[in-house]
Amino acid sequence: MQSSWRSPSNIALIKYWGKYPGQLPANASLSYTLSASHTDTTVRNEGKTGTRDFRIRLFLDGQARPDFEPKIQQFLARLGPEADFLRGLDLRIDTHNSFPHSSGIASSASGLSALALCLLDLRQQASGKEEEDFFRTASHWARLGSGSASRSVYGPLVLWGRHSAFAESNDTYAIPYPDELHPSFNQVGDCILLVEQGQKSVSSSAGHRLMEGHAFAEARFQQAGQNLSALKEILRAGDWEAFGTMLESEALTLHAMMMSSKPYYLLMKPDTLRWIEALWAWRREKALPLYFTLDAGANIHLLYPPDIEQEVLNWVIAHKEGFGLGAYIRDQSGKGPIRLEI
Ligand code: PMV
Repeated sequence: MQSSWRSPSNIALIKYWGKYPGQLPANASLSYTLSASHTDTTVRNEGKTGTRDFRIRLFLDGQARPDFEPKIQQFLARLGPEADFLRGLDLRIDTHNSFPHSSGIASSASGLSALALCLLDLRQQASGKEEEDFFRTASHWARLGSGSASRSVYGPLVLWGRHSAFAESNDTYAIPYPDELHPSFNQVGDCILLVEQGQKSVSSSAGHRLMEGHAFAEARFQQAGQNLSALKEILRAGDWEAFGTMLESEALTLHAMMMSSKPYYLLMKPDTLRWIEALWAWRREKALPLYFTLDAGANIHLLYPPDIEQEVLNWVIAHKEGFGLGAYIRDQSGKGPIRLEI
């Protein structure tokens, strides 16, 4: 038994920040699935353990990484009886990220969605029965590994979390964006500026926890819901300016939550702000639809319509040296995961 999947990372427009037990989101979120930033994962059964337990070994680029195994054990524990088909198996997981591991790009969305897809595929092979709603179950499983991973199993635009404006929306799995999308949002470019490479100082899990009892938590969860309703209309209308304004406001609000939690912390770096200010100045001067968003880290995602990509890249390259930027990733929205032939 073996299975291999390529699954992409994603970038949230409306941010998920704060959760309830069972990996349930405090508010609905919406993201573009990416394409160049992805994880390739293969899971193989190498034999039997001879017990009721299973064994898992993880290799990143061929190197054993026992340090990743607790996260996987936690994920499998959350799967509960759904993971019973793994009992007695000796599993080897091989994984590779298309982006450098230390680039500061979160690998949890791509990594855990790729793993969920492989495991579900193995369950299908073990039972000999086709899974009903394969991707829906994969999204549900991926969510148990990392909330944002639930959105990576579809593309290009994906909604996760219950919201009254979308009847089909659900807290337990993500769905392809169910509403009308103006053609100008069918595809977006995303140039990721790797402002800071390396491990971030505060993990997402710790950040989510700090929303518990946060003075602004309730207001933020409500605001996220209102922003999603507003974005629904913007996506229909094809209004890039309103879209970009929403994007930047969501990014800065996410970081404002970090800065106002107890204890407070900062994930933006001086260069993050330098790029943002330069971007605002350039946008004023050129009147081009180039906007930024941020993940829980210092890196910047520049979002733009594909037809202005060359101008955006020229601008990035012109500032790269002055701003000491090590690298950037030229990415774009994508269609979601693909099964790999081994
Ligand atoms: O999936 P997690 O637990 O790593 O949380 C991700 C949170 C953000 O990336 C900051 C926002 C989001 O919705 O992706």
